[in-house]
Amino acid sequence: MYSVVFLLAVLGASRRAADALDNGLALTPPMGWLHWERFMCNTDCDRDPNNCISERLYMQMADVMVKEGWKEAGYEYVCIDDCWSAHQRDDQGRLQADPKRFPGGIKKLADYVHSKGLKLGIYADVGRNTCAGYPGSQGYYETDAQTFAKWEVDLLKLDGCFMDWTLLGDGYMYMSRVLNRTGRSILFSCEWPLYEWPYHQPNYTVIRETCNHWRSFTDVYDSWSSVKSILDWTASHQDIIVPWAGPGGWNDPDMLIIGNFGLSHDQQESQMALWAIMAAPLLMSNDLRDICPRSRALLQNRHIIDISQDPLGRQGYRTAKVSARGDTEHGRSPERQLVTFLADKFEVWERPLSGGRLAIAVLNKQEIGGPRGFAVRSAPGWKTCSPQCNVTQLLPRYEELGIHTPQSDTVISVNPSGTALLTVTPVSGDSPRGWQDSSSKRHDIL
Ligand code: GLA
Repeated sequence: MYSVVFLLAVLGASRRAADALDNGLALTPPMGWLHWERFMCNTDCDRDPNNCISERLYMQMADVMVKEGWKEAGYEYVCIDDCWSAHQRDDQGRLQADPKRFPGGIKKLADYVHSKGLKLGIYADVGRNTCAGYPGSQGYYETDAQTFAKWEVDLLKLDGCFMDWTLLGDGYMYMSRVLNRTGRSILFSCEWPLYEWPYHQPNYTVIRETCNHWRSFTDVYDSWSSVKSILDWTASHQDIIVPWAGPGGWNDPDMLIIGNFGLSHDQQESQMALWAIMAAPLLMSNDLRDICPRSRALLQNRHIIDISQDPLGRQGYRTAKVSARGDTEHGRSPERQLVTFLADKFEVWERPLSGGRLAIAVLNKQEIGGPRGFAVRSAPGWKTCSPQCNVTQLLPRYEELGIHTPQSDTVISVNPSGTALLTVTPVSGDSPRGWQDSSSKRHDIL
């Protein structure tokens, strides 16, 4: 009824031997919360005290993170984005928090966040001004690094607005050096490549030596089209950017918007699955004080977080895409091991995990109709399943799918704009329970 396309495994991927920024941080993709996408530059605390950028917002978020399982799930950074500072530096040229919205100052806020066992992130800009027009760090790199260290901040997001692009690299490298010189461990989050791409291909060797994670593509919005555009950009640049991800330095596709307004639940699952496959920082931008239980459970799903935080630290690739015409375009990834499909408009993404395991995400990009079946079958070269492997489905629901051999296949149902997420674990042994046996009771779609 359906044709299945096989791909042979090509293992032994070449890794770029690049050094990560030597600050001992971000050995796995950082996890936390960042205010921007959800709260933006809302400074109107008179009319909107609950949602304005103020110390209260971060304190409440920290409280919830401890009380409602976020910290336990691994989310540890509480991050301030733009619009926190006063419009003027103080008389010694130092940045200062807006006194009305942060009456206790940033140091006090850091103490509060630390008292909860969490870490505090702050935002600055390598240029003259931040993107929202607050004072930038150009000309003040050393002063600002020292100020942040004195406040006991744990992460700095450095934006790239209002900067001559030819000076971006120097600015980011200088800030990285002076941050290290403070002696405080401050995770360094950059947007350097994003601002360089319009002019030339960024030098990811130096970016990886300078930053713990880096944005290459535009801001995430609260919509499925935004998430899709990030995935498309990542896949179409994967040969350039993926090899640079690894312990100490990560590609950052921007914030998780799960729990907001713009994504259906299936689309939220897709974002979570693909962000784990991409070894992306998991920085949520949502309102943790008011989030629906399904979104919370998804963001706290320990199986998906385990993929994100896998100690091997390899970013996944899009390994296949079937167009509307039914043509299959394969990623050139040397990691590709797998598989595929029944129908057009599916994408397959794969991430190698520790212990010879593999995570596979199958995204249904057809936004009409109902669930569609997707066939998985291994080829002789698919080493993970030779002689056999254990397959577990994590999304859309947890299910142990049993043993898979080079001879077996199964069909998984994926909702429109949803994702099936699987892990595949190699197993040795000689009398496997047949995949066919277990699949017949599982899949009623065909
Ligand atoms: C830029 C960044 C965003 C956010 C805003 C703040 O657009 O890409 O992530 O920090 O600036 O103004």
